[in-house]
Amino acid sequence: MSNIHYTKLLNTISDVYDAGKIAEVICLENRTEHWNGQQLNINQKELINFGTCGYLGLETDRRLIDRAMEYTDKFGTQFSVSRSFLISSLVTDLEHHLSEVFDGQKLFVFSSTSLAHISILPIIIGSEDAIIFDKQVHFSVQNGANLAKSNHSPIMIKHNNMTMLERTIERLKDSRQKIWYMVDGVYSMFGDFPPIDKLNALMSKYEQLHLYVDDAHGMAWAGKKGAGTIFNQIKHADRLVLATTMAKGFGSVGGIVVFPDEDMYTKVKKFGGPLSYSHPIPPAIVGAGMAATDILLSEEINTIQNELANRISYCNQLLGNSGLPILSHPDSPIKFIGIGNLETGFKLNKKVLDEGYFVNMALFPTVAINNTGMRFTITRHVTINQIYDFVEVLKFHYFKTLQEANTEIRTVQKFFKLPLGKKVLLATG
Ligand SMILES: Cc1ncc(COP(=O)(O)O)c(C=O)c1O
Repeated sequence: MSNIHYTKLLNTISDVYDAGKIAEVICLENRTEHWNGQQLNINQKELINFGTCGYLGLETDRRLIDRAMEYTDKFGTQFSVSRSFLISSLVTDLEHHLSEVFDGQKLFVFSSTSLAHISILPIIIGSEDAIIFDKQVHFSVQNGANLAKSNHSPIMIKHNNMTMLERTIERLKDSRQKIWYMVDGVYSMFGDFPPIDKLNALMSKYEQLHLYVDDAHGMAWAGKKGAGTIFNQIKHADRLVLATTMAKGFGSVGGIVVFPDEDMYTKVKKFGGPLSYSHPIPPAIVGAGMAATDILLSEEINTIQNELANRISYCNQLLGNSGLPILSHPDSPIKFIGIGNLETGFKLNKKVLDEGYFVNMALFPTVAINNTGMRFTITRHVTINQIYDFVEVLKFHYFKTLQEANTEIRTVQKFFKLPLGKKVLLATG
């Protein structure tokens, strides 16, 4: 990116930030004295939480809290030494335990998922490899991949556009060693998924095609043993590198990377950049991670996954006839309602906050400037009644705000390239 473009980008981000602050919808502060996952206290007002990513509600589970306290009692608040010199067996025990979730495959844990990408990608990407980003792949993946020493700049393709992906592979297949396609398991803004069947087909057709997936938003609530939306779905597992997180549905904090083979694991162990020098996750976080892994490896995971799925399905039913332009996948706990215009988005968000519901917004630069949306999450913390009341508020204010802005639903549909017409619903129960 040229300096002029970069300055322009920073100015636009600054404008969006300032406008969001003036509208009182971003940079809010939760001052609740006891976090139960459900109620927030923002500007001295109680709000119901439809915005955090603890999908299974494990962050307030007594077993995770007790184990975090037990580990702190026994092992202190930190173990301050680089992994390459001395590693605590607490961390290696957690890695072994977690690897049972991923069928015994080798993995590392990191203090964050962003750090995991920065550690891994420059090591596994070779100088003659190609990097292809889905347009919506998380910024932290792009940031890590941009540090790789490839002789070829990354290529960005349209979101979930498999035709464009295949065309790009065709173009590169004879001149590159590996072709890395980088995607999210659940896209953090739109709450949709990559087309797994088509990816499997392309991986069968092109043996150079490797997948690097950030499944942070799929961990724990999805998949067998909570391994996420991708891990058990990819046929060519020998060409899948899976990065995921303990910091969302799993109820703890930190990144995880699961390797397809021993060689790649050893290479990362040897050269792992921040993995070798950055601080290890602290005992409290290891304790919470051990307790969460116990739950994932027990029958209980099916029960709690179903409890969340029932809430999601109920929400889908309510949204079903609403006429709201929903872009997210029905199975996803992240819901995205298209708005388009930034100012209209801020107005709607403020009204929903004033009604007592905390939601997020999808804003530039995470989404295109005219793809502003309301993004909310369903967790096990909220009740069926709360979901009902929330969707009523949403329906009422969405159409009213659009009307006040003299915007027709067709305009919104156009912004998001949705089929025009009355029935705009993509998510069904
Ligand atoms: C898909 C995805 N990947 C990575 C991250 C960054 O994770 P971390 O906070 O562990 O660095 C996020 C943050 O929310 C995310 O949504």
